[in-house]
Amino acid sequence: MEPWLVADGPKLLLWGAETAAYLAGATLLLSLLQLLAKYAQKWQQMRAIPTVAYAFPLVGHSLLMKADGQEFFQQIIQYSEEYRDRPLLKLWVGPIPMVALYRAENVEVILTSSKQIDKSYMYKFLEPWLGQGLLTSTGNKWRARRKMLTPTFHFTILEDFLDVMNEHANVLVKKLEKHVNQEAFNCFFYITLCALDIICETAMGKNIGAQNNGDSDYVRAVYRMSDITLRRMKMPWFWPDLWYLLFKEGREHRRSLKILHSFTNNVITERVSQMKAEEEGRDDQDGIKRRAFLDLLLGAIDEEGKKLSHEDIREEVDTFMFEGHDTTAAAINWSLYLLGCYPEAQKKVDNELDEVFGTFGPFIRYTVGTKCTKTYVIHFHGGQAVGAI
Ligand code: HEM
Repeated sequence: MEPWLVADGPKLLLWGAETAAYLAGATLLLSLLQLLAKYAQKWQQMRAIPTVAYAFPLVGHSLLMKADGQEFFQQIIQYSEEYRDRPLLKLWVGPIPMVALYRAENVEVILTSSKQIDKSYMYKFLEPWLGQGLLTSTGNKWRARRKMLTPTFHFTILEDFLDVMNEHANVLVKKLEKHVNQEAFNCFFYITLCALDIICETAMGKNIGAQNNGDSDYVRAVYRMSDITLRRMKMPWFWPDLWYLLFKEGREHRRSLKILHSFTNNVITERVSQMKAEEEGRDDQDGIKRRAFLDLLLGAIDEEGKKLSHEDIREEVDTFMFEGHDTTAAAINWSLYLLGCYPEAQKKVDNELDEVFGTFGPFIRYTVGTKCTKTYVIHFHGGQAVGAI
């Protein structure tokens, strides 16, 4: 080897390392500047939209937002009351601007658009659980899935699920009955557990008995995951994945995710082998077999005749578990609350049910074109149920 090469070797190495470090630093700086420029441009673009209060750079309104779900809801109500006369409202969640639409004519523009199908940035935080199912996906993936899954919402298919709904609704009514003429109680968890029982059995064909065993790991994980995800959306300092894991909440998120995915994975695997056994005529399980949304997914094919993969199916089942319990539980709770607050409306509903179905008494399944369980409603006092009639 030439002597000058030996002497200059370490120097060359040092020079190479220094250049690499400068280049990496310059690239990082450039990316940061690019991000800042984009952020400043967005800030400028959004200036004209009314806002609730001064937004701090980068954290926006995040420090202002209540972490607790109940308090946050009250806060949103207060803002929409305060700014009722404005057409829309802007809120910076960290560096991300959110626009709140609360007038029917503005909301309609978005809901009827076939172009505006991208979900907001916040939906990214649902992806660890739901993957890219119907709720979180966009573009061609969403269009193809939507086309494939729309037939599963057909009325005749939904009718098959009425027995399941009636069964679980009866458990709920029996639980409520125990409170007749007793102290005030919070019916929220009763309703949520009932909604979970119904969605579990209609989506996966699995009776988890949540109403009788609210302590199941899966039920707790569904419940906690919805809550944790909504909290994370409001707190930009919890957004980076690795950083999030340093916090108790991040670790709970990871634990819940594991419980949720292994439960759905097991149900899908079990159902696939059960269907195989049925096909091969070696199914030894007696009794009526109910079709679930999962069975329809296992049989669904796209335009090219391709079936959904295990992963695709898990995404959709998890999506239905999330979408199907939280929304319906909230809607039922609101309906009960309002019926309790307005006894005259409650009386009207009761009369109408009697008119349509007759006065046979509670918990009876009627067949008048469609089946229906007549459930009995509750008095409300200061937000608490005080008894079932
Ligand atoms: C009162 C009850 C319900 C309400 C208020 C409700 C509300 C909504 C809303 C507002 C969306 C649009 C969300 C968005 O695109 O950002 C949505 C989408 C969706 N909901 Fe519901 N929902 C309810 C019940 C259900 C149930 C019971 C299921 C399933 C069993 C379900 C499954 C879905 C799915 C899969 C999507 C995504 C659809 C798509 O983007 O193509 N929902 N729901």
